[in-house]
Amino acid sequence: MPVDIDVTTVAGRGRPLLDDYLTRPGATAGVSLLAVPIRRAPVRTATEAGSDGTSADWAALTGVGTAALAPATGLSAAEAISAYDLSGKAGEVARLVARTPDGVIRLVLLGVGDGSPAEFRRAGAALARQVEHGQKAVAALPSDAARENTNAFTEGLLLGGYTFTFRHEAAGSPPQDASPGHVRSVQLLLPAHDDGGNGEPDRATVIAGAVALARDLINTPADIKTPQWLADQAVAAAGRHGLGVRVRDEAELARDGFGGLVAVGAGSVHPPRMIELTYPPAAAEQHVVLAGKGITFDSGGLSLKPNDGMKLMKTDMAGGAAVVAVMSALAALGVRAHVTGLIAAAENMPSGSAMRPGDVITTFGGRTVEVLNTDAEGRLVLADLLAYASAALDPSVIVDLATLTGAARIALGASVGALYASEDGLATALTEAGVAAGEPLWRMPMPADCASALTSVTADLAHIPSAMNGARNGQAGSIVAAMFLREFTGGGRWAHLDIAGPARAGSDDGEITKGGTGFGTRLLLHWLTAAAF
Ligand code: BES
Ligand code: MN
Ligand code: ZN
Repeated sequence: MPVDIDVTTVAGRGRPLLDDYLTRPGATAGVSLLAVPIRRAPVRTATEAGSDGTSADWAALTGVGTAALAPATGLSAAEAISAYDLSGKAGEVARLVARTPDGVIRLVLLGVGDGSPAEFRRAGAALARQVEHGQKAVAALPSDAARENTNAFTEGLLLGGYTFTFRHEAAGSPPQDASPGHVRSVQLLLPAHDDGGNGEPDRATVIAGAVALARDLINTPADIKTPQWLADQAVAAAGRHGLGVRVRDEAELARDGFGGLVAVGAGSVHPPRMIELTYPPAAAEQHVVLAGKGITFDSGGLSLKPNDGMKLMKTDMAGGAAVVAVMSALAALGVRAHVTGLIAAAENMPSGSAMRPGDVITTFGGRTVEVLNTDAEGRLVLADLLAYASAALDPSVIVDLATLTGAARIALGASVGALYASEDGLATALTEAGVAAGEPLWRMPMPADCASALTSVTADLAHIPSAMNGARNGQAGSIVAAMFLREFTGGGRWAHLDIAGPARAGSDDGEITKGGTGFGTRLLLHWLTAAAF
């Protein structure tokens, strides 16, 4: 279902080649759409503006193909830009028709903004949305586009072209598989200096494939997506990508003391699973552990959510999905560190066997936690993963990802993830990876006075602030959750990403598609491929 765009490249002569497409007989046979990039308009001053109100050098806004454009479309680039009042901002699209020697085809003027990788990513995604299933498009990259821009454009094409649907196939609706007649294909005409990379591994394709895997897992409805199903998908991914895998069932989890995961999964007829994926390259110096929240459905448990808060809770395993996705791409990207991926998969349901508010559970390693609201289930399953990682895996660093608190979404909105880190260097590296990857993070504090919210009269820790333990309820929800998790990290290097905001999207936007976004996958892959942690 996921990415069904086939991207190919033609080395090195973007502009003349585009002119060819418009003028040479046979060049556009089978091509439905030509995309011509335009840049963001320079600031127009009164003296630069011509008498018709347009800048004297509109032609400079177009990266390629301006000479051939006018005879093919009946308009100069300047006239088209002026008529549509184009600014060239990233993702802007103007649809024209062009007459080529082979007939009439669609021509799209495509804004590439300021030409940064982020803007090229957005432009690529916009182009993907212009290409129909079964069609072929040709896009010229501007003559000065660097390899990282070509990569970003490809990533945008693949991510913006992601679809997921269970719709019964009808005329005009996207197909549910990438069968040959349905695949969209886009051919990129690279700038003159770009030879296409000579077989260098295609980073954009690998990264987009990983993100698509995460999105597929997140978008799958929870009636299908039981903890065992999620484990099956991880096992299949491990098989495809040469990873080690171990799945612990509910009996092993109970035997080995994973009390958080057992308690959270206790209300469901679909028992919990812990998934452990391993990527052990030879002679690795660092051991990175990634830990993901994998709640396949979060009803809230006995502390039941209202329907509005519950209806999107099939996405509560987005952290775990990102972990599976990252693990699947490590070999292809040549990551040198030893990486272990842990996913705590459970369904949080109310029933006669469910955990209750007031229960005291024993987490991995023996610490007791007083449960005060069964809807704060994520921190309970993550406590087990973090305690297990720090006690059993000798990690150099642990990074966990979780759709942990509605409070993070309230604080930072739907596009930025909340970052907590045990040290500045780690926070900086992850933040920079987020910027480069197009998945922004914002670092949050862990102020000492919030720790009192975790004191319990009856157990080692309270799992949420409670007046009965002397805490003021309902404040700094994402921070307190992070500080609860920190208790289980053994004091080592650790970062926590509360992705409750950006893990899912309400609408398409650039390379983001409505539904699960796969947030975290791209930034962690950037972080893991940059040498220093
Ligand atoms: N999965 C939710 C958090 C969430 C909310 C994710 C909205 C995405 C969108 C989490 O398990 C939860 O229910 N958290 C509670 C914690 C509270 C009971 C302390 C919350 O945020 O309300
Ligand atoms: Mn919950
Ligand atoms: Zn949850």
